Amino acid sequence: MQAYRASLLRFDAAGQPIFDEDGLLLVGPDAAGRQRVQDAGAFASVSARHPDAVVTHWPGRIIAPGFVDMHIHFPQTDIIGAPSEGLLPWLENYTFPAESRFAEPAHAAEVAEVFFDELLRNGVTTSLTFATSHPASVQAFFEAAQHRSLRMITGKVLQDRHSPDGVRDETEQSLIDTESLIRRWHGVDRLGYAITPRFAPTSTDAQLRGAGELATKYPDTWIHSHVAENKDEVKWARELFPGARSYLDVYQGFGLMRERAVYAHCIHFDDDDRRLMRATGTAAAVSPTSNLFLGSGFFDFEGADRIGCAYGLASDVGGGTSFSPFSTMLAAYYVGREGQTKPGVSIAPSQLWWRHTGAAARALGLEGVIGNLQPGCEADFLVLDPKATPMLARKTARAESLEELLFAMIVLGDDRLVERTVISQASGT
Ligand code: GUN
Ligand code: ZN
Repeated sequence: MQAYRASLLRFDAAGQPIFDEDGLLLVGPDAAGRQRVQDAGAFASVSARHPDAVVTHWPGRIIAPGFVDMHIHFPQTDIIGAPSEGLLPWLENYTFPAESRFAEPAHAAEVAEVFFDELLRNGVTTSLTFATSHPASVQAFFEAAQHRSLRMITGKVLQDRHSPDGVRDETEQSLIDTESLIRRWHGVDRLGYAITPRFAPTSTDAQLRGAGELATKYPDTWIHSHVAENKDEVKWARELFPGARSYLDVYQGFGLMRERAVYAHCIHFDDDDRRLMRATGTAAAVSPTSNLFLGSGFFDFEGADRIGCAYGLASDVGGGTSFSPFSTMLAAYYVGREGQTKPGVSIAPSQLWWRHTGAAARALGLEGVIGNLQPGCEADFLVLDPKATPMLARKTARAESLEELLFAMIVLGDDRLVERTVISQASGT
């Protein structure tokens, strides 16, 4: 058993932070050899329970759960920061040309390595990830993630219409490819498959129907798509699917809403949409840097909380502007100001942090597995250095509460704050 001594951040089942100023995290293999948290808490009590543990001491550091990014596009790593008047021209001018290169396995493999390096430098240990429509992109992603022992989810993008040559796929073959990738990769080590229609406007009815059938046949796969991000997109979806009550309802009609279904953005919603999310157990991936960058709009946090929808935070790189969870949490704080009706200071820092760790894990159906450091969780964790920059050192030294400490890191932090990212290994790796 290995034990790590530093300040320790965890969350309880209600999403409230638990902070041990002098904490101890005890890590050891489970019956299958996977490294998990065996015990966690105050140094004095945990060390007394495990007198033989080998203790590594990180004075002045904070151990925290690895972040969970609920929606990101690995093939858009190189188009981060591409200016555009809005979503649809951005897709046409930057995204589709960049993604068309992922038919080439060597290119996909090279970008996958850059992507994982960047995630880990920024403290993200799991992401629900778009690949491209090319099976080679999925293959490259899973091979690289497996090599690094990561818990990662991706899937081949389905887009058989309204898409240019180079990214458009073919209905029947796209579903055959999806099923063979599920059989090849879903549940292998810590890898999971997401059935991934890009968004309703770029799939035919037949493709969406086929995706829904696969989602029923493989109920523990994820479903991953976009919805209600941009007003022009919403208008287009409504024109293409006039029989649906709303854009979101298109997905419900094809059997694409259930537990483990995750939709990015969910901005232009009404309460019936929110109730449909709740009733089906579908989760929203809130992507504030992307929404601000592309001028898409503001996620309604109060509306989601009022109805009780599951949601967590996401970068949405390359629409999003940063891999850093600190940037995403700060942008969520800004967005939380918009449309705020209750008095207060937008979203509490600990709640921003929870939405990017434990709540995101819960929304993915992975509570108790990742996103927290309670006993039983896989040992994916971060060592944060609150003195990583001069301003962080000044601000964190002056923090008088946990909320002030977390907020200092959210506002001033970036990849320099993440001194080390520790990934749970399986025996033999
Ligand atoms: N909607 C359909 N495709 C995309 C994409 O690649 N990024 C974003 N942000 N929205 C989308
Ligand atoms: Zn996206």
